[in-house]
Amino acid sequence: MSIDVLLGLQWGDEGKGKIVDYLAPKYDVVARFQGGPNAGHTLEFDGIKHVLHQIPSGVFRPQIKNIIGNGVVLDPVIFKKEILGLGQYNLEIKKNLFISKKAQLILPTHQLLDEAYEEAKGDKKIGSTKKGIGPTYQDKIARLGLRVGDILSADFKDKYNELLKAHIAILKFYNYPCDLETKERDFFEAIDFLKKFNLVDSEYMINDAINSDATVLAEGAQGSLLDVDFGSYPFVTSSSTMAAGACTGLGVAPKNIGEVFGIFKAYCTRVGSGPFPTELFDEAGSMMQKEGNEFGATTGRPRRCGWLDLPALKYTIMINGVTQLFMMKVDVLSIFKEIKVCTHYELKDGTCIDRFPCEITNGKFKPVFKTFRGWHTSLENVYDFDALPAALLDYISFLEKALKTPVNIVSVGPDRTQTIIRNGVLGERGEVWGVI
Ligand code: GDP
Ligand code: IMO
Ligand code: MG
Repeated sequence: MSIDVLLGLQWGDEGKGKIVDYLAPKYDVVARFQGGPNAGHTLEFDGIKHVLHQIPSGVFRPQIKNIIGNGVVLDPVIFKKEILGLGQYNLEIKKNLFISKKAQLILPTHQLLDEAYEEAKGDKKIGSTKKGIGPTYQDKIARLGLRVGDILSADFKDKYNELLKAHIAILKFYNYPCDLETKERDFFEAIDFLKKFNLVDSEYMINDAINSDATVLAEGAQGSLLDVDFGSYPFVTSSSTMAAGACTGLGVAPKNIGEVFGIFKAYCTRVGSGPFPTELFDEAGSMMQKEGNEFGATTGRPRRCGWLDLPALKYTIMINGVTQLFMMKVDVLSIFKEIKVCTHYELKDGTCIDRFPCEITNGKFKPVFKTFRGWHTSLENVYDFDALPAALLDYISFLEKALKTPVNIVSVGPDRTQTIIRNGVLGERGEVWGVI
């Protein structure tokens, strides 16, 4: 059977964790394929909120195998902390979690380098989460990195020291303080902890699943507008956040990709620096931020807010081959009497485009908005797609036509139960997905 991919279509934080957790019972395997602890995926059920950084969002569902794929960068210290934090929930993590031996390790010095590079950029900062993501992927591409499988070899410490030497030289160049004593102690304790887990060639696990009747859901991190190739470069992350990233990040052939679930907020947010054509600097923006509780799940930073951007969405749907859309945080827009959507960008010479060009970084694209009547009513007790307010159904219908893709899930709150699935939508096994 093919594997389905779920990924963010904006600048991250679209609600991927919530939906992966919601859909997980329909799958046998959930696999992360890129990114690392820069991700913060929030899940909420039974009155408890969980934020996962390294561990796939299928972890709370029993029987599901969770894989940290080869495309991921893993910080053993954050991993250990996250696992210990989950200890109270009686999960069979040791049995159900598998980590690719080919995943790259984030070293304490990668994290320091991330800080040093950001500091050196001055007002051109990317707004990195400073978790060491960029420097670790840099070492991977430079063929210098250490991988999870290396921790099993007798000369791991030598390999570590060799890379450490190179990192220290760069930190010296940047004149960046490098006090490693505690960090290294924690790192090596976490490495011993990591050794007790299932360290595997996960590409075989995934392809064995594909060749049997098992189902796999690939969980993206970040979002397509943060993709290293297609995002708003250089204000991006350092991995391939797209559907294609699931192929390289898990070892899956393109022909084995099935559904591509594109998840987007009913508006836009961005944390960190970089262009954001529909960003709001007025009362509407602060209302969105407050109502949507738009503060980063990893760093706690306030998220910038703005109206939905259709040229950007069309672009990310195109580059990912999205087959179904999931629309999140619709409840947040219930506070507005009128809702705006950017349909085009206007250029300096007055021409309008509905494409997301490379030069978007120059900030010379003025958004052109279409205004919709808001539904302006609480969605709290709505559980059925057809029972959504007429103004919201009109709005969804407009989006589906403009984006040429069906909206099959509408999320109306952070809790697992606040998820409305469209009647009659078919899952991978041909069954109808109802409310779980
Ligand atoms: P992710 O990184 O894509 O998993 O998203 P985050 O967890 O970083 O951010 C999404 C935030 O929105 C979290 O705080 C979720 O609990 C919350 N959330 C998800 N879906 C909804 C929704 O439909 N409505 C509201 N109000 N909050 C939601
Ligand atoms: P999830 O998976 C939102 C942003 C950072 C910064 C840029 C580069 O929770 O959606 P990095 O630490 O990767 O070098 O930062 O990317 N960023 C995210 N923004 N959600 C995320 O992940 C993000 N991961 C990175 O804020 O602008
Ligand atoms: Mg997040």
